[in-house]
Amino acid sequence: MPLEVHYTSSAQATTELGHRLAAKIRIPEVILLVGDLGSGKTTLAKGIIQGLGVANPEDVLSPTFSLIHEYEGPPKVYHIDLYRLDHVPQIETLGLEDLWDKPAIVLIEWGEKFTHLFPSTRKMIKIFDRGEDLREIQIGSPRAETP
Ligand SMILES: Nc1ncnc2c1ncn2[C@@H]1O[C@H](COP(=O)(O)OP(=O)(O)OP(=O)(O)O)[C@@H](O)[C@H]1O
Ligand SMILES: [Mg+2]
Repeated sequence: MPLEVHYTSSAQATTELGHRLAAKIRIPEVILLVGDLGSGKTTLAKGIIQGLGVANPEDVLSPTFSLIHEYEGPPKVYHIDLYRLDHVPQIETLGLEDLWDKPAIVLIEWGEKFTHLFPSTRKMIKIFDRGEDLREIQIGSPRAETP
């Protein structure tokens, strides 16, 4: 069971939810953002990153092509998108494991294919497209993660 469930009916509302979630995040934290293509993972990440105060809205871009965006902070934030990676060997060359020991916040899109690579203390946020602009956003703990 998720710890919390939120519903938003616009991208703006999801961004604002990200602002509120940011206020509760403590370093270090690894958060998997899970949801279908276009469900709102990057939108929520933008809200979290803005809420942490490490970037202006216009400076938060999707890391689909660059794979990793790093925000100096403080707090240090890594926003990662693994969509374009299919194979574990490719991912292993990124050196993600070096991030787990850092005093940082790590937000990961499309990480669920590679969960064995992430620390067991990770959190998970699932986003479901419930039609039109409605999104159901489930904030989970590691134990909420079911295959
Ligand atoms: N309630 C909502 N919350 C978030 N996004 C919404 C909502 N309603 C509509 N949208 C739209 O859905 C899209 C979400 O795009 P976004 O890039 O955040 O998704 P994503 O999950 O990161 O996609 P991808 O899998 O390609 O990385 C945007 O076009 C946004 O405007
Ligand atoms: Mg995205």
